[in-house]
Amino acid sequence: MHQVTLGMIGGGTVGSGVFHALQRNGDLLAARIGVRVKVQKVAVKAVDEPRPYRIPRAVMCTDWQRVVQDPQVNLVAELAGGTTVARTMILTALKLGKPVVTANKALLSAHGEELFAAARQYGTNLYYEASVCGGIPIIKALREGFVGNRITHLYGIVNGTCNYILTRMKCEGAEFADVLKDAQAQGYAEAEPSLDVDGFDAQHKIGILASLAHGFWVNPRDIYVEGIRALTRADIQFAGQLGYTIKLLGIIKRIEESPARTPRGRIPSARIQVSVYPALVPNAHVLASVNHVFNAAFVRGDIVGDTLFYGRGAGKDATASAVLSDLADAALDLKFGTPQRVPPFVPHERAGAVVPIAEVVTRYFVRLNVVDRPGVLAQISALLGAARIGISSVIQPESREGASVPLILMLHDAPSGAVTGALKKIGRLAAVRSAPVMIRVEDLC
Ligand code: NDP
Ligand code: HSE
Repeated sequence: MHQVTLGMIGGGTVGSGVFHALQRNGDLLAARIGVRVKVQKVAVKAVDEPRPYRIPRAVMCTDWQRVVQDPQVNLVAELAGGTTVARTMILTALKLGKPVVTANKALLSAHGEELFAAARQYGTNLYYEASVCGGIPIIKALREGFVGNRITHLYGIVNGTCNYILTRMKCEGAEFADVLKDAQAQGYAEAEPSLDVDGFDAQHKIGILASLAHGFWVNPRDIYVEGIRALTRADIQFAGQLGYTIKLLGIIKRIEESPARTPRGRIPSARIQVSVYPALVPNAHVLASVNHVFNAAFVRGDIVGDTLFYGRGAGKDATASAVLSDLADAALDLKFGTPQRVPPFVPHERAGAVVPIAEVVTRYFVRLNVVDRPGVLAQISALLGAARIGISSVIQPESREGASVPLILMLHDAPSGAVTGALKKIGRLAAVRSAPVMIRVEDLC
């Protein structure tokens, strides 16, 4: 049987998961694809670190160059993380003509185009299924399964750590900091957990998905990001009373085609919304029931209609499953000498653009902390009215006159810029005791 020799960089959560998965299902993989994947070496920082799954000392080393430069290694997996040394690791392997499998979405977000160009230049390939949504094969789905579709909408719960935290805050009333510690212990969180909770990991992933869906490489700087750090249990509870669940959503929405008519053979370029923010999702929508570390991507194509992908979005085994899928593709490409059979990214809509968040129209949940006295609601609704923003419902728990009380407003569709401007003015009213909280409402239709 044909054999490829794998050199791995990284033997932590994902790396040790891959090592273990190959031990467990390597024979099955070989029987299915007719190629055996043999692990030659695994580079780590410190051999004696505890790992989720055991890796024999005999295969470990502490110099990634020994892995990449080993003449017997003809396939490299970068599972170390980070955006500096990892870039050098991948470029070094590609320059040697060795295909690379990576799970590193932060690196792809920052340097994807450069790495894809290097793969092309050196006649090899870069595979990255594990970089988005853990075990869900969403990259393959967008790039291959939906190749004949124009993607009009993608709503994704793409960060397992945030979804785990939000689920436990909602279901158990747990504290943010305690649940984050649990997510770290389970191996879900990034080495720097602010990447998760401040929305940047989701930004990296949603940028990759938007680029694949729309054919131009989306600059992460154009993606509006809000994380979940500022959410309180009060927001989660009030949203629940109104029939919603708060989720950190990645949103890719085709807003308009431009120009409307194109010469024959030219594809109209799109203006798309690409953003990451916490949003109220109606409880009746399937995404509201995606809990704990699970991820989901709701994808609408102009031919296929609505589709839904669901699975574990982080953790050693789910992520290893996605890496194995890439190892199989790479092994087959090595066997058949077809390195660019499926190019990592094909730009086909270079004139596309991301719409600024200020222009994005949604509904809103607003929580204010106000003094309960006559005329306050009138002042607030006057400021909203002046900005042409309508109120669709109001909740204010009963209290003593003169006491501070939460005031929840649901607002009709309005551009984000208008709402932000009006809330700034509302925040300056004497009766408003703390900065207004604004969370978007997504009807997901
Ligand atoms: P870990 O921190 O658990 O593992 C990183 C591994 O890389 C460790 O084994 C570490 O060595 C090794 N390493 C780091 N720097 C070097 C270096 N310079 N030379 C050699 N080895 C090095 O991270 P994860 O496994 O969680 O994440 C790895 C990648 O996968 C990241 O890009 C992450 O974003 C991505 N990812 C993670 C998921 C998850 O659920 N955790 C899911 C999807 C993607 P040592 O063990 O000695 O410290
Ligand atoms: N930290 C990431 C998450 C890992 O929680 O989703 C998977 O990409």
